[in-house]
Amino acid sequence: MDGADQDLSKPDDESTEQLYKVLVIGDYGVGKTSIIRRYTEGYFSPNYKLTIGVDFALKHIDYEDGQKIALQLWDIAGHERFGHMTHVYYKYAIAAIIVFDLGRPATFESVVKWQRDLNEKVMLANEKPVPLILLANKCDLAKNGDIDREKLDTFCGENGFLGWFATSAKEDKNINDAMGFLVNAILEVAKDNQPVAPTEQFVRLDAKANNKKLQKCC
Ligand code: GTP
Ligand code: MG
Repeated sequence: MDGADQDLSKPDDESTEQLYKVLVIGDYGVGKTSIIRRYTEGYFSPNYKLTIGVDFALKHIDYEDGQKIALQLWDIAGHERFGHMTHVYYKYAIAAIIVFDLGRPATFESVVKWQRDLNEKVMLANEKPVPLILLANKCDLAKNGDIDREKLDTFCGENGFLGWFATSAKEDKNINDAMGFLVNAILEVAKDNQPVAPTEQFVRLDAKANNKKLQKCC
């Protein structure tokens, strides 16, 4: 079939793919980059290379009914020294993930600070907070009893998190489940809160904004 015979009424794949910006935040060294790498590239490195400023990764998902989704994961540096510059990257996000390290209690204490930063900088078009989940990472290193499920349930319930998951980037535990759960929440809010056009989101970081509770343990 030459070009003249093509059925132009059918949109091509790219034009039907909906892009959603998701922030991944939390203290330094908790495993944000490792979780994103595991999810998008399927590998894990034991070496720590701190993120400078911000990094990006894209995950294409074939959702139900042929719906195509791309998650644009914004990997925000956790180190305090980057704090003054990274918050500008929060704009236009439709969802967020806060990560802490099960073996470093101080990183859990910081979760409320990250959530406060998030809610100060970004909200949905209907002025509600963006859907948010909590990842308790490095569960491969946790011993029996290290994960206080009741405390995490209560914390999530009281602080507006949709749910929490004990994850391991190293052993690939619960990361797909957590992301699938978040995608469902994103699609729910996206019905009434259309995100900014993908291309604009990609290149114009300073453009004007427009814009079931769950737990899982390894
Ligand atoms: P910043 O970029 O500084 O904010 O840190 P980060 O949150 O991106 O942490 P990163 O993913 O770089 O991981 C820090 C260290 O923890 C690395 O040495 C990783 O290999 C290790 N790590 C990450 N996730 C896991 C995990 O699930 N289990 C274990 N055992 N180690 C992990
Ligand atoms: Mg990192």
